[in-house]
Amino acid sequence: MRSLSIKNLTVSREGKSIINDVSVGVRQGEIHLILGPNGSGKSTLLNAIMNYPRYKIEKGNIILDNKNITLLPTEEKARRGIFLSVQHLPTVGGVTMLSFLHHAYRLIKKNEVSILDFYKMIESKVKEFNLDEKLLKRSVNVGFSGGEKKQGELIQMLALEPSFALLDEIDSGVDIDSLHKVFAGIEKLRKEGTGFIIVTHLGTILEKINPDRVSIMKGGKIVKTGGREVAREVLERGFNN
Ligand SMILES: Nc1ncnc2c1ncn2[C@@H]1O[C@H](COP(=O)(O)OP(=O)(O)O)[C@@H](O)[C@H]1O
Ligand SMILES: [Mg+2]
Repeated sequence: MRSLSIKNLTVSREGKSIINDVSVGVRQGEIHLILGPNGSGKSTLLNAIMNYPRYKIEKGNIILDNKNITLLPTEEKARRGIFLSVQHLPTVGGVTMLSFLHHAYRLIKKNEVSILDFYKMIESKVKEFNLDEKLLKRSVNVGFSGGEKKQGELIQMLALEPSFALLDEIDSGVDIDSLHKVFAGIEKLRKEGTGFIIVTHLGTILEKINPDRVSIMKGGKIVKTGGREVAREVLERGFNN
C-alpha cells in the first residue's frame, strides 16, 4: 500500500525555527486532517514537504513508499505524484488554465497528449463535477473569486490524479456551492486511492470530510493525534484548552 510519512520534521525560514519535530502520515485513500490556529505552522509544513525554496529542512525525513525523498527538488516530488494546493494561489497573466494544465500534465505524467485530446479529457471531468468550464479559457487565477480558485485547484487534481495531495486551507474563502463541488471531487479522488493531508484552521471542514486521523498543531508542534474525537474536542473547547 502506498504511503507518505513525515518523520520528525524540523523546518526553519530565514534562520528562524518554525516547526519542530513534526510527524504525520497518510496511506492511499486516507485523509489526515491537521487543525491549528493561524500561525501554528501548517503552511510551513506543507511547503517544506514539497521542498519549496526558502523552507529549510533542518532535521527529519519525508518517506514516500519506503523511499527517502526528503531533499528531492519540488518538480521531482510532483513527478512522483505529490500535489500541493498552496494557501495563496499565484496569478499567471496571459496563460490560460487549459494551457497551464496541459503543460503541467505533460511534465508530470510524461505523456505527450495533444491539447485537443487533453481538452476532451478535462472537459468530461469538469462536467462530471458541474464545475465552471469557462475557467479553462481564463488566465490562471486572474480575477478568480475564492470559489473559482479552489475549483481550479480541483480541476488540476482531477487532471493529475496525484497519489498524495496536500491541501492548504482549501475550505477558506470559498462560497458554499464551490465548497460542495470541491469536496465531491476530493471524495472521488480519495475513493480512487489518493491520500490527503488537509490543513485548516476551521472546524467546519468536518461537515464535509470524514478524516481517518486528526492532528492538532500549535506553536509549530503536533500536540495531539487521534481519530475524529480529537477534532470534536477542539470544536467544543477551542485550540487553547
Ligand atoms: N519568512 C518568514 N520569516 C520568519 N517567520 C515566518 C516567515 N514566514 C512565516 N513565518 C512565521 O512562521 C509561523 C508559521 O506560519 P505559517 O506556517 O504560515 O502558519 P499557518 O499556516 O498555520 O497559519 C508564523 O509565526 C509566521 O509568522
Ligand atoms: Mg497557512
